[in-house]
Amino acid sequence: MDTLDSLFPTTTACEADTLDLGERLAVLLQPGDVVALTGDLGAGKTHLAKGIARGLGVAPDEVTSPTFTLVQEYATDPPLRHLDLYRIERDDELDGIGLDEMLADPEAITLIEWPERAAGRLPPEAIRVHLSHEGGDQRRIGRLP
Ligand SMILES: Nc1ncnc2c1ncn2[C@@H]1O[C@H](COP(=O)(O)OP(=O)(O)OP(=O)(O)O)[C@@H](O)[C@H]1O
Ligand SMILES: [Mg+2]
Repeated sequence: MDTLDSLFPTTTACEADTLDLGERLAVLLQPGDVVALTGDLGAGKTHLAKGIARGLGVAPDEVTSPTFTLVQEYATDPPLRHLDLYRIERDDELDGIGLDEMLADPEAITLIEWPERAAGRLPPEAIRVHLSHEGGDQRRIGRLP
């Protein structure tokens, strides 16, 4: 049985590895959990999120990057929300999407790309996962405190 401490830190060698890691992480997530995914453009945040969605039973072709929608919701059990805050420019836009309500939802799992845009609003217990380029297709994926 995986634990967060056994899964991270790790290095993935290709996109499929990152999807698999997300699938294994999904098993460990509980309703109410918030997962903050940080890392540069192209580090693999969306792929990790897709793996988590797959782990919760979403068909791979149903998972799209929420970049243009900001929030993608999946009727999984527990329900999953995937947020991408990259396009957020002002703090009041976060009120407009109902961020605080989503973060406080005890029923759902919330994944957030570009959580820096909501600094100060994330719960202190959020699971923070950072991805970084290690050359070629290698990505280092670890938890932040
Ligand atoms: N080990 C790896 N893990 C994940 N993606 C990889 C890996 N190796 C190569 N890639 C490629 O890197 C890119 C990662 O894209 P992805 O959209 O997941 O990044 P992102 O961190 O969400 O970027 P953005 O900040 O633009 O949202 C994809 O093109 C993917 O095919
Ligand atoms: Mg992304």
